[in-house]
Amino acid sequence: MNILAISGSTRAASTNTALLHALAAIAPTGVTVAVYDQLASLPVFSADLDAAPPQAVMDFKQRVAATDGIVFSSPEYVRSLPGGLKNAIDWLVSGDAVIAKPMAILHGSHRGDDMLDALRMVLATVSSGFSPDLFTRFPLIGKTPAQVSETLAAPENAVQLRAFLSRFIALANPRTNNSFAGSSHR
Ligand SMILES: Cc1cc2nc3c(=O)[nH]c(=O)nc-3n(C[C@H](O)[C@H](O)[C@H](O)COP(=O)(O)O)c2cc1C
Repeated sequence: MNILAISGSTRAASTNTALLHALAAIAPTGVTVAVYDQLASLPVFSADLDAAPPQAVMDFKQRVAATDGIVFSSPEYVRSLPGGLKNAIDWLVSGDAVIAKPMAILHGSHRGDDMLDALRMVLATVSSGFSPDLFTRFPLIGKTPAQVSETLAAPENAVQLRAFLSRFIALANPRTNNSFAGSSHR
C-alpha cells in the first residue's frame, strides 16, 4: 500500500511536514508513506492549462492517481488553508484520480480550526473517500523538527499517531472493511 502525505507548508522546518515524516517513519511493513515535497513547484492553476498541464502538475496528478490514499497536514494561514495547498487541490479537480480517493487530516497545532473547517469542506467536495471522523492533532506549533520527533515519541502521542495510521490503512485498503469512510458532498 502506498500513502501520499501532503503538507500545506513549504517551510523547511515545518511542523506539519515533520509530523508527516513521523507518520512515514512508523509505517508498518508493506505500507509506504511518501511525503510530497513539490508543492512549491506547481504553477498557479489555470483552466487554460488544464488540458495539457505543465510537467510538475502531470507528476503530481500521476502520484495522486497511483496512491491508495492521501493524508494532509496543514498550517492555518489567514484563517484558511494556505494558497499553495488549495492550488494543488484545484489542479486535481479535473480528471477522476481524486474522486473517491481515501483522505484524512492530521494536524500539527492546537489552533487553526478555521483552516480545518475550510480544508474539510474542500476535501469533502473533491473526494467521496474523505473521512472527516478520522482526525488527530498534536500541539507542535513553534517546535523544531527535532522537537516534533521528540514530542511524537512520547508514549501517549506515539499511541495516537499509530492509531491514526492503522485506521487510515484500514480506510485506504479496499480489502478491509471500510467503516471509516466519510459521506460524499460532491
Ligand atoms: C502567512 C501566515 C498566516 C498565518 N495565519 C494564521 C492564522 O490565521 N491563525 C493561526 O492560528 N496561525 C496562523 N499562522 C501561524 C501558522 O499557522 C503556524 O505558525 C503553523 O504552526 C505553521 O506551520 P508549519 O510549522 O507547518 O509551517 C500564520 C502563519 C503565516 C506564515
